[in-house]
Amino acid sequence: MSDHVSFVDLTSSAVTGTIAGVIGHPVGHSLSPNLHNPWLAGAGIGGRYRAVDVPPEALASVIPAFRDLGLRGFNITVPHKTAIIPYLDALAPVARQMGAVNVVAFDATGKATGYNTDGTGFMAHLKASVPDWPVDRPALVIGAGGAARAAVVGLLGEPLPFVMITNRSRDKAEAIASEIGRGRVTVVDWADRHAAVGGAGLIANTTSLGMKGQPSLELDLAAAAADCVVYDIVYQPLMTDLLTRAEARGLRTVTGLGMLVEQARAAFRIWFGQLPDVPAGQVAELEARFR
Ligand code: ATR
Repeated sequence: MSDHVSFVDLTSSAVTGTIAGVIGHPVGHSLSPNLHNPWLAGAGIGGRYRAVDVPPEALASVIPAFRDLGLRGFNITVPHKTAIIPYLDALAPVARQMGAVNVVAFDATGKATGYNTDGTGFMAHLKASVPDWPVDRPALVIGAGGAARAAVVGLLGEPLPFVMITNRSRDKAEAIASEIGRGRVTVVDWADRHAAVGGAGLIANTTSLGMKGQPSLELDLAAAAADCVVYDIVYQPLMTDLLTRAEARGLRTVTGLGMLVEQARAAFRIWFGQLPDVPAGQVAELEARFR
């Protein structure tokens, strides 16, 4: 039986045995079933993880339908991460702070709580990849969309002096600084981003620039410190132009797929009370698709 289901099938046998899933529109590209299904099997938990296509007009029916089906919970991806909030019974503080939910969990009474594990995923992958990443200097976050909010929330949990954020549309960067910055986020004008590189211990691209079919991120790395870490959350391709240029300068780099894996592991823990073991070769196999 397929792990990708359209919403109209929710009452049919297509969803029999579903224990968790992801909703989005479109959702056919989702890698989450490839991650969660081996983890469920490895943990000896019965049931499948399925990707369900939910158009915006059907969003209101998702929580009652999944509650009736007995799901432990589900992930939420584009375009529903904010739109789901009014349908929830409770919101974890970090999801409230980010204004976005990527995980919903049902408790034993059917109460639906929204969480956000994107910031956790961002930091967990950085720490696993470069345990000694520099925390004595500010980080430079490029972009001001949902992924930037996750990066900023994650970074503000670390002992950094402050976080610099730069975005083409400056008002969105200002909004992040004032809404979640807690006095530790400064906005750098988009035109001045190259000059900010020299003072950064970490540079994180959270924009879609560098993705297949998109222009590259223009960022001059000439002034980067020798121990600076460059992290790109784009994973299609895995080695973006930014990371290739960083590597050529001898800088340490962090690719994007691991953040996806770590936010998924954190979701699994919310639903099942344990962090899943990642089978040997699972991440390498996914990465190979994007090389
Ligand atoms: P997500 O939620 O995945 O972070 P998003 O909210 O669409 O996605 O944000 C996309 C980010 O990429 C934004 O920071 C966007 O900049 P704007 O806020 O100015 O739109 C950035 N981005 C996309 N295309 C860009 C481009 N051609 N040049 C500069 N920034 C770009």
